[in-house]
Amino acid sequence: MGKPLTEVFSHANMANANQLKIDLYDRFSVAGIPIYYMIPLYRAWASTAAQIITSALGTGILIYLSYSFVSYLWELVRPSVLQKYCHVQTGSWALVTGANDGIGRAFADELLERGFNVLLHGRNEEKLKRVQAELAAKFPRRKLDYVVADASSYDRPERSVVEKVENLPGGGKLTILINNVGGVNTSPQYCSLKDMRPADIDTQINLNSRFPTHLTSALLPLLHENKPALIINAGSAAGVFGVPYIAPYSATKGYIFALTKALASELVADGWEKDIEVMSLIINNTRSAGNTAEMPLFTIDAKDCAKGALSRVGSGCVTVYPNWRHAVQGTVMALLPEKQFMAMMGPEMKKRKLEELGKVKSL
Ligand SMILES: NC(=O)c1ccc[n+]([C@@H]2O[C@H](COP(=O)([O-])OP(=O)(O)OC[C@H]3O[C@@H](n4cnc5c(N)ncnc54)[C@H](OP(=O)(O)O)[C@@H]3O)[C@@H](O)[C@H]2O)c1
Repeated sequence: MGKPLTEVFSHANMANANQLKIDLYDRFSVAGIPIYYMIPLYRAWASTAAQIITSALGTGILIYLSYSFVSYLWELVRPSVLQKYCHVQTGSWALVTGANDGIGRAFADELLERGFNVLLHGRNEEKLKRVQAELAAKFPRRKLDYVVADASSYDRPERSVVEKVENLPGGGKLTILINNVGGVNTSPQYCSLKDMRPADIDTQINLNSRFPTHLTSALLPLLHENKPALIINAGSAAGVFGVPYIAPYSATKGYIFALTKALASELVADGWEKDIEVMSLIINNTRSAGNTAEMPLFTIDAKDCAKGALSRVGSGCVTVYPNWRHAVQGTVMALLPEKQFMAMMGPEMKKRKLEELGKVKSL
């Protein structure tokens, strides 16, 4: 049988044990500060006053998070007021930019389903005719038309769109504008800012920022005349967080959020907020012609994106997530410290960039 512990820790042994404790304290540190020096900090934290403050803070944060969560759930279940924008007997019109594919085409489909006539916008006439014919076959009672304009060009492409809107078949009235057209749209898709061609930077700015701004500005008086009216702008999570190797695109989408918020405030200041509703979408990974990358759990279909966006109409929020998966992803990402976010995003996007380069070289 060994000796009882009390005997082992005789006075001499206790002195060694204390030394050992100090050595251990010195050796283990947090952020370079030995744990030993943290004992007074710990005692302060453990004091009653500090505990009252931290528990009050914790309760405050919990109340805030619960409120946000319940508001978000309410947003998901409350009925959309989209139909109030379909108020003309002959059927109100919706203009969907970039309607040939992906989310734009899904918007067109959903709006036709809900009784709107749709003006499709795109840059490829053949494709527009094909999409129009397919949609007309699916929705024979709705009216469809199309307009061709290259949204990335400098020569005021919005003009031809506005002209078409002013001359809709049968004197139709536009009540919805979906500023959907956008994307990276240059090759390679992922590129360091320092390596980008100036013309490609301009193309992205024109497509994602310039065109929707001019188009909205030009159509606002007409939308007000046809009130109530709705404007939806397609933003991107890239515009919230800033994603490497798609820097100009990220910036243009950040611009969309600011533009939408500013316009919403302007409508309130002008007393037009009941006449025109405006909102922007924080879209994340969505399967489309322009995005074939898959993210487990968080990739949605274009149909879900358009459907979700239309169900948020009337929520009173200016910036919304069109889908709950993107909301969860965005909320978690927003909680990450910036450094953590960059450490996570950088390698992922670099991988995509290198994969794309590999693909391009192997062609
Ligand atoms: N998909 C995503 O993961 C994702 C994520 C965040 C945000 N978004 C945003 O959601 C919106 C729709 O994206 P998407 O992925 O559905 O796009 P997409 O599949 O690439 O489709 C874009 C549509 O816009 C048209 N288009 C492209 N450039 C044009 C131009 N210069 N002039 C006129 N039309 C043009 C395309 O026409 P063609 O058929 O001729 O190419 C196509 O019909 C964009 O604003 C995008 O930034 C998407």
